[in-house]
Amino acid sequence: MKMTVIGCGYLGATHAACMAELGHDVLGMDSDIDKVHTLNTGKAPFFERDLDGLLAKHTTSGRLRFTASYREATDFADLHFIGVGTPPQPGNDAYDLTHLFDALTKLAPSLTTPAVIAVKSTVPVGTAPRVAKILREHAPAGDLIEVAWNPEFLRESFAVDDTLRPDRLVLGLSTDHSWAEALLRQAFAKIIESGTPTIVTDWATAELAKGAANSYLATKISFINAMTEICEKTGANGTALADILGHDHRIGRHGMQPGLGFGGGCLPKDLAGFISRADDLDADQAVGILREAAAVNARRRQRVIDLTHEELGTDLRGKRITVWGAAFKPETDDIRDSPALAVAQALHNLGATVTITDPKALDNARKLHPELDYVEDPIAAVDDSDLLLHLTEWPHFTTIDPRRLATRTANPKVIDARGILNTDQWRDAGWITRTLGRA
Ligand code: UDX
Repeated sequence: MKMTVIGCGYLGATHAACMAELGHDVLGMDSDIDKVHTLNTGKAPFFERDLDGLLAKHTTSGRLRFTASYREATDFADLHFIGVGTPPQPGNDAYDLTHLFDALTKLAPSLTTPAVIAVKSTVPVGTAPRVAKILREHAPAGDLIEVAWNPEFLRESFAVDDTLRPDRLVLGLSTDHSWAEALLRQAFAKIIESGTPTIVTDWATAELAKGAANSYLATKISFINAMTEICEKTGANGTALADILGHDHRIGRHGMQPGLGFGGGCLPKDLAGFISRADDLDADQAVGILREAAAVNARRRQRVIDLTHEELGTDLRGKRITVWGAAFKPETDDIRDSPALAVAQALHNLGATVTITDPKALDNARKLHPELDYVEDPIAAVDDSDLLLHLTEWPHFTTIDPRRLATRTANPKVIDARGILNTDQWRDAGWITRTLGRA
């Protein structure tokens, strides 16, 4: 099949490469000409495991290319996936739909024949009818343009795998939808045939699916982190508690790792956007639990700052703090709403000298926070430090020998905010250890 993907960020570039991998001819379209150029050389403008391999394979095979022209996109295919970003509005938690509406308004004038527009971007519930109206008003083919909602649940660092082997496929369709469903089933045929649960539903349910899923995931993380607040006061062990709860098949261990809490470009934004939309709908009571999940998450960041004061005193001026981790989670260079960077920035504002190390995210962090210090080697980063903070759980950090590390500083103190360092080993090596979620 031929298809386009409009908007080639994390979501769109991955979707385009994976559709080519499934055997389709794909044209990715993005208005950022530099991004188009990079993608056409077979590289992603960000780090995502396995994605460069797929981009290189299919830009070479000829099944995938990228353009900055809307006209070229509409000439290329009848099925257009939309993956443009929907960030929060400036100074507001509601989704900013400018990029989405702008892309549709630019795409529509060259939609002269029937087409299916399948939107993957995350939006507030109630957006689909607005999309259909824009297309009806601006596309020469008018009512012959069908709108479908196809939410994307991919995790960064597993984006390729999650796209090719999703947990479920959701097709949100209007009542008169026969062609859209047929085209999408054809596009995802290999995924459907492999047994992926496929839920065909209405627009509103499909729109809600992504926000509700991310709200649940965020709440689950905050639940275990709230429990660890009690662990910290009682001597209980938050990680062991998570293990015990996780063995209950109704609960499950996944998403129950206690620690510094969630960040990234999706969970915090979707939680806030979902709450904001519920407020608009006069359904604020329905999202009280989500407000609390956000509050618990913010308290985890503050807890690390409080522990830092406990270790280094109230006045942090002149203190040297090493931070292991800048990315919002391991195996990504994404620093959007990174808990690690938020803590680092707060400590810098309190007068500390903060040195950060991260295997992939240093360039992005340096651009956003030039006021912080950066070192590539996690061992050298500890030189003359008063305190080490383990804030992003890159596997590499856990392989570093604490004995070797202890020789680099006169103050071997560590706060493990992710709860995965081997505390016994670190103590034997002479470190004073504190672990978030434990007394
Ligand atoms: C998330 C959703 O998982 C995905 O389905 C959606 O499409 C986009 O948002 P992602 O942002 O890539 O994906 O990250 P995820 O792996 O879910 O982690 C989110 C945050 O929660 C990270 O900061 C992570 O460190 C944190 N987290 C995750 C925990 O603190 N504890 C956990 O047990 C799991």
